[in-house]
Amino acid sequence: MDYINIALAKGRLADKAYIMLKKAGLGDCIDPNSRKLIFKDDSKKISFIYVKPSDVVTYVQNGVADLGVAGKDVILESDSDVYEILDLGFGKCKFAVAGLKGEKIYKKDEVLRVATKYPKVSKRFFAEKEQRIKLIKLNGSVELAPLVGLSDVIVDLVETGNTLKVNGLEIIEDMFEVSAKLICNRVSYRFKYDRISKLLDKLKRLEGQCCEDN
Ligand code: PRP
Repeated sequence: MDYINIALAKGRLADKAYIMLKKAGLGDCIDPNSRKLIFKDDSKKISFIYVKPSDVVTYVQNGVADLGVAGKDVILESDSDVYEILDLGFGKCKFAVAGLKGEKIYKKDEVLRVATKYPKVSKRFFAEKEQRIKLIKLNGSVELAPLVGLSDVIVDLVETGNTLKVNGLEIIEDMFEVSAKLICNRVSYRFKYDRISKLLDKLKRLEGQCCEDN
C-alpha cells in the first residue's frame, strides 16, 4: 500500500494541527518537540512533512504531498490548483486593511500605498474597488510600514488585534475571514480516493471536539 503523505505548516497552525491528528489517531509518529522534518508511521502508511506555511501548497500541488494543512491566507496568495476538501475550524482570523486612525483607503484619482505580505490578495481586493494602489511587498512586521511613512495602509491578518493596538493602528475595513483548510492534490484525490476519504471521515468526526479556537 502506498503512503499517504501529508504536509503540515510550521508556526501558527502547527500545534493545533498536531492536536487534531492525535485525536484522530493519526499523529502518533510525530514528535512536536523535535526539529526533524519527516515523520513516518509504517504501520498506518502515513508520513508527515513539516514545511513553511507558504510552501504547504507547493508540496501538495506538485504531488509530493497528497494532503496538506494550510491557512486560507496562503492558499489565496498562492493561486494554487488544489482541492480544498475540509475547513478544519481552527486558525481563525481575518484579513483586514489597517492604518493610522482616520486614514482613508479610497482615494479618488490618487494612488494608495499598501504594504503587505499578501500582494495578490491585496491587488484583487483593491482592483474590485477600483482603487489604484502601489504595492509594497514586505516579509513581516508589516505594521511598521505606516508608522514610518513607508505606506498609507497595510493589508494583513488580524487575530487578536493586539499587534495593531500596541502599534497605534486600527482596522479601517474588514476584508474576509480565514481559517485552516485541508487541501488535496487533484491526482491523489482520484488515485488514493479510498484512503483519503477514510481519513477525511476521521477528521470530520472530530468537528467541534478539539481543535476550535479558544
Ligand atoms: C501575524 C500577522 C500580524 C499578527 C496578527 O504576524 O501578520 O502581524 O500576526 O496577530 P494579532 O492580531 O493576534 O496581533 P506574525 O506573527 O506571523 O509575524 P510577522 O508579521 O512578523 O510575519
